[in-house]
Amino acid sequence: MNAFNRLALVISLASIFPLHAYAADTKGNVEVVHWWTSGGEAKAVDVLKKLVEKDGYTWQDSAVAGGGGAAAMTVLKTRAVSGNPPSAAQIKGPDIQDWAALGLLTQVDDVAKANNWEALLPKTVSETMKYEGHYVAVPVNIHRVNWLWINPEVFKKAGIEKAPTTLDELYAAGDKLKAAGFIPLAHGGQPWQDSTVFEDLVLSVMGPEGYKKVFVDQDEATLTGPQMTEVFTQLKKLKGYMDPDGTGQDWNLEAAKVINGKAGMQIMGDWAKSEWTAAGKTAGTDYECVPFPGTDGSFTYNIDSLAMFKLAKKNDTPGNNAARDDLAKVALEPEFQYVFNQNKGSIPVRNDLDMSKFDSCAQASAKDFASAGEKGQLPSMAHNMATSLAVQGAIFDVVTNFMSDKNADPSKAGKQLASAIKAAQ
Ligand code: GAL
Repeated sequence: MNAFNRLALVISLASIFPLHAYAADTKGNVEVVHWWTSGGEAKAVDVLKKLVEKDGYTWQDSAVAGGGGAAAMTVLKTRAVSGNPPSAAQIKGPDIQDWAALGLLTQVDDVAKANNWEALLPKTVSETMKYEGHYVAVPVNIHRVNWLWINPEVFKKAGIEKAPTTLDELYAAGDKLKAAGFIPLAHGGQPWQDSTVFEDLVLSVMGPEGYKKVFVDQDEATLTGPQMTEVFTQLKKLKGYMDPDGTGQDWNLEAAKVINGKAGMQIMGDWAKSEWTAAGKTAGTDYECVPFPGTDGSFTYNIDSLAMFKLAKKNDTPGNNAARDDLAKVALEPEFQYVFNQNKGSIPVRNDLDMSKFDSCAQASAKDFASAGEKGQLPSMAHNMATSLAVQGAIFDVVTNFMSDKNADPSKAGKQLASAIKAAQ
């Protein structure tokens, strides 16, 4: 069929099945903007779609590819500015407050009350979901960021006996992997991935208190002090073990290199596990998850959540509002929390579920989250939990510029970081 005939067919089909007929068939429509597009993550989000559809609503998938969500955020801003927001979008951390302050979000207090969210959610989580005391977002999981993923078979081939627990052991493992012809560290050189490694190093070198001073307090003395020089020195060293073909590479393609036995390790949050799971691999046997060297006892958290939008006039029907409320309800129900998190690599956000249904990495994560306590539970900077997006962007720029400049001076980077943060505050 040529292009003209195809167009004619579309026009004639459209006149037989006008758009409103499709809408009238369902109870309502819920459009969700997210960035869960890797193989494993797409499987996870499909669970939500199926449950919403089971309740009789139409799921409109507005996935925007791009790990870490920067591209999705750009699309969302454009949609909001042009007065055409989706029903819900993946928005996290302090950014939820910023969107709510603009008057763009709607509250789902009735759903929260009817489903007992107050009792089900840890306080740190529920507070982030609220604006002026009202729930404007629903959390779906807790990801841990400070993980190191290991292919044990590759380690064995390279003669490495155990998972590294210190930075020196990490470099020693890297040397052996290099010598045996493997990529030591699978790493995609995108700003959010660079900064994921950077925040792990801050935690490893400075400990949980230093981490808070850097990312939460943005304390100038700490940002420009000798420990920050040490962090950048380590970052430079680590860069030498990273995949030489990793420039601009997506995280899941890099994860595939570890899964396929081309690389030995990946520094990544536990969404990386979604790829291992999708490839049919078993935690503890086919792959190992250990805390990033030097960060045992701390837990950098990343809570995925869906913020609820006020609908544009043309979409503001009782059915569409009911569909959005249904999404909020389903997202915290056990049925969803189990299957979604098993696929996503995260742990459930509600605290009353049976963790024996999860693999050993998720069980370790749940245990470590609890034992880290207030002191060791740290909001991830690279994943929007610790700072405004403006400050985060400033950090990303300094870190990525540092990593791409062979001659960058670790003793100057802290000052650059402090002044970039100041300008963005
Ligand atoms: C994070 C998000 C995760 C995962 C990751 C990779 O920011 O919270 O759910 O999608 O990005 O894209």
